[in-house]
Amino acid sequence: MRTHITLPNVRRRKIPEEFKDNDNRFAESLVEYFLEKYTKKGDTVLDIFAGLGTTLFVAEEMGRIPFGVEYSETRYIYIKENLQNKENIIHGDSLKLLEYDIPECDFCIASPIYMNEDETENPYAAYTTEGTYVQYLEDTRKIYSNVKKKMKPNSKIVIEVSNLKKGGVVTTLAWDIGKEISKILNFEGEIIVNWTNNNTEKADGFYGYGYDHSYCLVFSNN
Ligand SMILES: C[S@@+](CC[C@H](N)C(=O)[O-])C[C@H]1O[C@@H](n2cnc3c(N)ncnc32)[C@H](O)[C@@H]1O
Repeated sequence: MRTHITLPNVRRRKIPEEFKDNDNRFAESLVEYFLEKYTKKGDTVLDIFAGLGTTLFVAEEMGRIPFGVEYSETRYIYIKENLQNKENIIHGDSLKLLEYDIPECDFCIASPIYMNEDETENPYAAYTTEGTYVQYLEDTRKIYSNVKKKMKPNSKIVIEVSNLKKGGVVTTLAWDIGKEISKILNFEGEIIVNWTNNNTEKADGFYGYGYDHSYCLVFSNN
């Protein structure tokens, strides 16, 4: 497995103004890379944190069948309005994934909402309830236990994640998620993405420390 790739940190799709302040989308090139590598035309592709729909839109462009879950209603509506397979985006909570009408999928790629270890609000409930980093990691594992039940045998599951730095303190998010999900899925290793076209005015990259590269953690369901 190649463990280091370079991709353009460019989002081609224009998005409405209301989403521009929190544009945490995948670059389309990332989704294209993994769909080329792990899927073929007609395969089903799942993104359990659909966000603004990058995985789903790229999957359709490449002749794959997308399925997604998104917690935010405004993001869900945006995806639904722009997706051809309109019934395949679900407004919901991936902790309840098994309640939704999604078939067994061939491939899953997703990026969870991130959490620093000193934060006290639950990102999986849109910060409306209290939460801890330990609970967040447990919930992430619960979500991927659901994903495991929605995947075909021997399929691949990719999680895109970064380590974070806030106030000089590093949260080893990528490594912690890797360890947590390794309890339930077979960890095949990481692919490190070196992002080009980062905003050079911010020395540390696009959002700050750690965002000039990503860890794509590759798991298999076997
Ligand atoms: C990092 S963004 C994903 C961006 C996406 N990869 C894209 O390219 O647009 C994470 C998304 O997860 C959603 N989310 C947070 N908690 C969730 C939950 N419990 N179930 C489903 N989606 C959730 C957030 O609303 C956010 O849109």
